[in-house]
Amino acid sequence: MKEFKILAVIIALVGITYYGIEPYAHHVMHPEVAPADFSFKDLKNVDTSLKGNPDNGKVLVEANCIACHSIESAGYPKVMPNADAAASYGVVPPDLSGAGWIYDKNYLANFIYDPVSAMKLQHKYTPESGKQFPMPAYNWMSAQEIMDIVAYFQILAPKAKAGPEAHKNTFEAACGRCHSMKYAGFEATTPVENIKTYMGATPPDLSQYIKSRGEHYLYSFINDPQVLLPGTSMPRTGLNQKAQEEVIAYMEDIGDRKKAERETTGVWVMLYTLVFAIAALLWKRKLGDFSS
Ligand code: HEC
Ligand code: HEC
Repeated sequence: MKEFKILAVIIALVGITYYGIEPYAHHVMHPEVAPADFSFKDLKNVDTSLKGNPDNGKVLVEANCIACHSIESAGYPKVMPNADAAASYGVVPPDLSGAGWIYDKNYLANFIYDPVSAMKLQHKYTPESGKQFPMPAYNWMSAQEIMDIVAYFQILAPKAKAGPEAHKNTFEAACGRCHSMKYAGFEATTPVENIKTYMGATPPDLSQYIKSRGEHYLYSFINDPQVLLPGTSMPRTGLNQKAQEEVIAYMEDIGDRKKAERETTGVWVMLYTLVFAIAALLWKRKLGDFSS
């Protein structure tokens, strides 16, 4: 009977700690937010049900995009060194080799139509601010033309389909113009003085963010930064679910290499405790028999 009393006291103590500390950890330090929205349903300027023609898309991309962007997988090289591009645009335009498979289709089409609203940066580029987003809006194109461009990007094949190589490529394509990853030896393509002026804030080095923010926070933050940091200058990048998971996996590959090891050790420790508890119970029973 005594064991049950002890057990009840332990359960009560654990319960109090759980209800006292847990809400603080989860609701104050990691507040509940709307789940990530990978359909980008707030964006509806372009009819994305139209079937694009990649051949016409290629013509449009050559005429409109490669003056600023490289598309290395299709043989369009960088137009100028990064330092010059940063001086001209504030930030180095990303290479678009992966645009067709890392960005959500609806996001990409609406981004081409109106970059500022797709990135949710209207608060930064108000008419009063006098600032202009460096990439022009292609809102003069027809929906069909925009979908042709999207179709063209979709036929460019990825360099790596899965694994650490794909994680790295996606991170560099989507985040690498602003963020460094020092633990992987990666420097942001935009020099730090330029990016600070351009963003009005210095994008942090992301080597340790998987530990300081955790996967749960990153999952909603990357999908829509304004929800967790209202007014932030970090843009919504419009990654589809697979690409976002690759970016987080990369942050884990670099910042938390020991995660798998820690998790297996955790299981062994729990098994050990269980075996030990059973042994202790059996031993106690045996002692009990002695005394009676
Ligand atoms: C005048 C130069 C310029 C031209 C022309 C231009 N872009 Fe850009 N583009 C930029 C810059 C600069 C950025 C990065 C802006 C930022 O991150 O704040 C960018 C960003 C992008 C991104 C990344 C979006 C994201 O969510 O991260 C895509 C995709 C893109 N451009 C596609 C295109 C396409 C397609 C065209 C042609 C139809 C085009 N761009 C034409 C300068 C340009
Ligand atoms: C155009 C530049 C730009 C791009 C592209 C960009 N970021 Fe950022 N990011 C920023 C800036 C600027 C900040 C600092 C924001 C602030 O302090 O308000 C930031 C902040 C962050 C933070 C810290 C948030 C916090 O809670 O403090 C994380 C994490 C992050 N970015 C992840 C990413 C990831 C992952 C990508 C790629 C999918 C990405 N960013 C793409 C500019 C960028």
